[in-house]
Amino acid sequence: MVRIDLSGTQQFVTKPLDEAACQAAIDTLVNGTGAGSDFTGWVNLPVDYDKDEFARIEKAAEKIKSDSKALVVVGIGGSYLGARAVVELLKSPNYNVLAKNTPDLYFAGNGISAQAVQEIIAMIGDRDFSVNVISKSGTTTEPAIAFRIFKELLEKKYGKEGAKGRIYATTDKARGALKTLATQEGYESFIVPDNIGGRYSVLTAVGLLPIACCGIDINKLMQGAAQEREQCLSLGVRSAAAQYAMSRQYLSADGKFIEILAAYEPAFRFMAEWWKQLYGESEGKDGVGIFPASVDLTPDLHSMGQYIQDGRRILQETVVFFDETAASVQVPGDEANLDGLNYLAGRELSYINEKAMQATKAAHISGGVPVTEIRLPRNCEEAVGALIYFFEFACGVSGYISGVNPFDQPGVEAYKKNMFHLLGKPGY
Ligand code: PA5
Repeated sequence: MVRIDLSGTQQFVTKPLDEAACQAAIDTLVNGTGAGSDFTGWVNLPVDYDKDEFARIEKAAEKIKSDSKALVVVGIGGSYLGARAVVELLKSPNYNVLAKNTPDLYFAGNGISAQAVQEIIAMIGDRDFSVNVISKSGTTTEPAIAFRIFKELLEKKYGKEGAKGRIYATTDKARGALKTLATQEGYESFIVPDNIGGRYSVLTAVGLLPIACCGIDINKLMQGAAQEREQCLSLGVRSAAAQYAMSRQYLSADGKFIEILAAYEPAFRFMAEWWKQLYGESEGKDGVGIFPASVDLTPDLHSMGQYIQDGRRILQETVVFFDETAASVQVPGDEANLDGLNYLAGRELSYINEKAMQATKAAHISGGVPVTEIRLPRNCEEAVGALIYFFEFACGVSGYISGVNPFDQPGVEAYKKNMFHLLGKPGY
């Protein structure tokens, strides 16, 4: 389902892509023989997931939809970004303020801002709400703090027993403080599988419960991912994901060591955030890695556009574009034509948006930025599921091509140790 067009990189590629290295990386990933292979459960997840747990997720989502006007999703990093990305892309960044019969969604515990927490509490007001607390380790500080706050709020509103029926815990099956608490209190719990790390977990309960609460068909999401998995496994180095992995590694070795992900839909913003975490945590280690950045086009052409066109030539760009958009809006005609726009009268905005993409792509290539184009038929559950799998598979392959373990994140511990020391946590 995901298509790739590498024609915009060709003039920057002076020798054939290293297919042997890519095939070796695919084999390492698929056969589970590389560093971090304990965390490659996501490779088969779209066809090999716990159907009973999946049914429980759907049932819990129905209950939340029926008894809550708001759902607070507490989590950070891989326990946050995927759900937000999918909901914003498939529903809207304005999901909460648009008319609907599903609960509003608030994300907490993805930082330590007092203002952010206070605002969520104010926005919930006196409405009925539930909480989905998500932490694989069950020990992460930011969500643990937020969970204390929203748990206390629930207990004040519904009493201790009533609150228990409104808390859903997504965590490790056996370990961690959250697991202990969930077992002790009897919260409905969902499992983050042992063999799937946070940033690869969006298609587990981590992402699926909040996504389902917003009325998104999670079966179709999984079907899209399964279709893309089939492509990745059957086509080898010819799959779109392998081509992407090979190409970006080639370009990086040639000095294009910053990759900007560009999309022409504001709703894509959090998919780009999810992608940045996926690639940044997977590849940025041992002194190597392509730095993942993102731009929202066309708005950022009026800010970052100057640098992309003309700044240091260290960039490669990957554009994600949908063939069709569901929305239909045309430019109105105007008799006076004082703004000179009548040459566009009657044109669909989607037509103009695509021309803007093509024009920008050509400009960036001529300015020395290789551009990879990733196309999807439309913005729907199947396509988004396929895109998720595409990026995950490409990330695993790309990481192995560059010689790192794509499934650990030792670098994220440094700030925690310093913070715990400054806060006086026992043992630090
Ligand atoms: O990808 C990762 O592993 C991290 O970003 C984690 O998802 C993040 O640190 C949150 O961890 P946890 O789910 O254990 O609270």
